[in-house]
Amino acid sequence: MALTKISSVFLICLFGFYSQTAKSQFCGCSPIRCCSQYGFCGITDQHCGSGCQSGPCRTSRDPVDEIVTKKFFDGIINQTRNGCAGKRFYTRESFLSAANTTLNFNSTVTRLEIAAMFAHFTHETEHFCYIEEVNGTSRDYCDENNMQYPCVPGKGYYGRGPIQLSWNIMYGECGDNLKLPLLSQPELVGSNSTVSFRTGLWFWMKSLRPVLKEGFGATIRAINGMECDGGNSGAVSARTGYYRDYCRQLGVDPGANITC
Ligand SMILES: *[C@@H]1O[C@H](CO)[C@@H](O)[C@H](O)[C@H]1NC(C)=O
Ligand SMILES: *[C@@H]1O[C@H](CO)[C@@H](O)[C@H](O)[C@H]1NC(C)=O
Ligand SMILES: *[C@@H]1O[C@H](CO)[C@@H](O)[C@H](O)[C@H]1NC(C)=O
Ligand SMILES: *[C@@H]1O[C@H](CO)[C@@H](O)[C@H](O)[C@H]1NC(C)=O
Ligand SMILES: *[C@@H]1O[C@H](CO)[C@@H](O)[C@H](O)[C@H]1NC(C)=O
Repeated sequence: MALTKISSVFLICLFGFYSQTAKSQFCGCSPIRCCSQYGFCGITDQHCGSGCQSGPCRTSRDPVDEIVTKKFFDGIINQTRNGCAGKRFYTRESFLSAANTTLNFNSTVTRLEIAAMFAHFTHETEHFCYIEEVNGTSRDYCDENNMQYPCVPGKGYYGRGPIQLSWNIMYGECGDNLKLPLLSQPELVGSNSTVSFRTGLWFWMKSLRPVLKEGFGATIRAINGMECDGGNSGAVSARTGYYRDYCRQLGVDPGANITC
């Protein structure tokens, strides 16, 4: 594995030496250095961050279990108080097994995405304390005008899981995608932690991954746009604080346009 990585770096650099394209003509870095977007060797964020062409790029796609290490996961969930329902529910293993069953996810995910995703998970669940929304049953999350995913009498579509999936339409769409009866059994999201993480990953792939390239702020707007433009600056700064912290832990540059 390591050998293949090194030889492909070597080949890319070799190609760089002989190619006439402006992008790669300067690239001939030693294997421990990154080749920047502009073809310079180095180890700073400018070299190894966004646009990095070869070498130990921080944007490289490591297997998900090497990004979400036990240390990283425990570092979050350990901050939640004892007695939180989520503390015995959410596990690194259930996250990884959900990641494994989300098509192409574990081989395409980046460190930056994990930082962004877990920043939202942490904020939504208060460091994995909550499985279900506090006082969720007191709110009505049924859109009766939705004919495709009609509410099942007696079922509550309040926030559940790492992304706090809410509303009949979301439970319906997500259930279709995961081939699980989430409209008739929304409680599955709060009782099976692999299912719970799969709902978070579903939402990530559908709504958040596509906008992350515009910056972390765009993901806040996609998850809860009411917080943006001064709507809830406390929530925005909490999310961005977690994001910066996780980027630092995972060794990636948080990029531009972090707030909204
Ligand atoms: C989290 O808590 C566990 C159990 O108390 C401990 O073994 C582990 O070292 C802690 N990890 C971190 C990163 O704080
Ligand atoms: C993910 O899938 C691979 C291959 O199927 C398997 O070896 C690995 O144990 C799985 N990991 C988890 C956490 O389920
Ligand atoms: C990722 O998942 C695929 C199947 O979806 C599996 O073949 C592969 O081994 C998994 N890799 C890891 C690191 O879990
Ligand atoms: C939940 O409901 C209880 C009792 O009605 C109330 O005291 C508490 O402030 C509510 N919590 C939130 C977060 O709304
Ligand atoms: C949780 O759901 C998954 C399907 O997504 C299933 O394979 C697994 O057996 C369930 N676990 C439990 C404890 O019911």
